[in-house]
Amino acid sequence: MIKLGINIDHVATLRQARGTKYPSVVEAALRAEQAGADSITLHLREDRRHMQDEDIFAIRPLLQTKMNLELAATDEMIAIASQVKPQDVCIVPERREERTTEGGLNIKDTYEQLYRATQTLTEQGSRVSLFIAPDLKDIDLAKKMGVPVIEIHTGSYADADNEISKQKELKRVTDAAAHALSLGLTVNAGHGLHYHNVNLIAGISGIDELNIGHAIVAHALFVGWDNAVREMKLLLRNYST
Ligand code: PXP
Repeated sequence: MIKLGINIDHVATLRQARGTKYPSVVEAALRAEQAGADSITLHLREDRRHMQDEDIFAIRPLLQTKMNLELAATDEMIAIASQVKPQDVCIVPERREERTTEGGLNIKDTYEQLYRATQTLTEQGSRVSLFIAPDLKDIDLAKKMGVPVIEIHTGSYADADNEISKQKELKRVTDAAAHALSLGLTVNAGHGLHYHNVNLIAGISGIDELNIGHAIVAHALFVGWDNAVREMKLLLRNYST
């Protein structure tokens, strides 16, 4: 069955909005695991708009599953990851003015920087993934770089506002996943996935894990955190091939 990584960034967004101690990201992580999460994903952004350094250090030793730390390939972030030693690191592009991670990495233009980051992170024991658009050329470059995992950005699929473009974007993700699998890469996917659109992505054969955050945090307002995680897990169980 396809695995569910729960991204808890927006639990921290709510806390940071008031500068309070609640809601607890530690509690969110541990309860997500109890409700069926296969991993806990967090993004330590350069601007620290949601997760803080101390969150990462507090959560890492408490997890029963594994930590998937998202970060930009900067010296500062690589140094933090080298101390925290998450099981998984997903390298993402970052722009200060963006609302969220809007696209995949530009591997071609940042190849050397990504290669160095990948080497350092791999040497300290993390499994490295690159967050990329469903683009066959980027997948070939990721393979050349030697990363074991890619995460396909599903934002364009999630944002498609009519059936034709949705099917077109679904095909891009499906073809990208098939290509990456044929090269021996492990394939994850995520971004913008929701209870109403996760079905077709979960149905793509060979995807290992989906990382989902915003929709689950939002749904939790109405059904509670544990139920929001459980409901998504159930959908993955029903739709995985
Ligand atoms: N995967 C990656 C690499 C991301 O950067 C994000 C957003 O931070 C997600 C998955 C989750 O996206 P969403 O919050 O839209 O579910």
